[in-house]
Amino acid sequence: MKLIDGKVISAQIRKELGERTKNFFERYGKRVGLAVVLIGEDPASKVYVRNKISGCEEVGIRSFAHFLPANTTQEQAVELIRALAEDKNVHGILVQLPLPHHLDAQKILREIPTEKDVDGFSAENVGKLVLKERGTVACTPLGVMELLKRSGVDPKGKRAVVVGRSNIVGKPMAMLLLNADATVTVCHSKTENLKEECRNADILVAAIGKPKFIGADMIKEGAVVIDVGMNRDEQGKLCGDVDFDNVKEKASLITPVPGGVGPMTISMLLSNACALAETAEEL
Ligand code: GUN
Repeated sequence: MKLIDGKVISAQIRKELGERTKNFFERYGKRVGLAVVLIGEDPASKVYVRNKISGCEEVGIRSFAHFLPANTTQEQAVELIRALAEDKNVHGILVQLPLPHHLDAQKILREIPTEKDVDGFSAENVGKLVLKERGTVACTPLGVMELLKRSGVDPKGKRAVVVGRSNIVGKPMAMLLLNADATVTVCHSKTENLKEECRNADILVAAIGKPKFIGADMIKEGAVVIDVGMNRDEQGKLCGDVDFDNVKEKASLITPVPGGVGPMTISMLLSNACALAETAEEL
């Protein structure tokens, strides 16, 4: 077994991004700008947002942090996004999900213009991904593809199994693997014979949200195992969707949690922000 070290790969990417933001500044006389909006008090979201903002600082992106209270109204949220949409210093807008239940998340996300949709969640960007056109792609699946690439794994012709079908991870992940010429199966909570499906995978991506759900009996000998999960185990310790200690014996390559996909998600966010800024200023 070999570990795919997301921290090492991520550090390399952030070094490259530091050069990119420096070039951007020299060329356009302004910095790449990313607005990060957090509504409410979800403790996990607070940690993610803090990491996103410190990622911006690390590579020289100017961040615009907006922390709104949990009782923010739909109108107040929409008003903020509209102001950010108009702001010439803001190249990308991120609204951290999930939003408090009284808010209509889709309606709020639709206020983000496609050219500032740094998460790639808009219908237009999802459509472009399906059509294999250039657009912004969701950060986590993009980070998984980058991990595979920089670990020398080519999905072409391989059987890839994605467990999970969320809009943020599972669906765009499956599409990226398909676009990279893998034979893709998407499994979910209603899948019959999940174990057998997983055992067919040359590349397994776990994005389920259940601690240590993928056991060694679900893994083909020599498979590449990518763990997107971020859970807490019974002891409150951070763990993935994969039972790492047992699965690592069978996998040829495996990502740990923490230190696998997580840092890559943020690196891809920063990379998406740079790409949006470059496109906006080139116009
Ligand atoms: N919540 C969990 N993952 C993400 C993400 O990639 N982007 C946003 N905006 N919210 C999230």
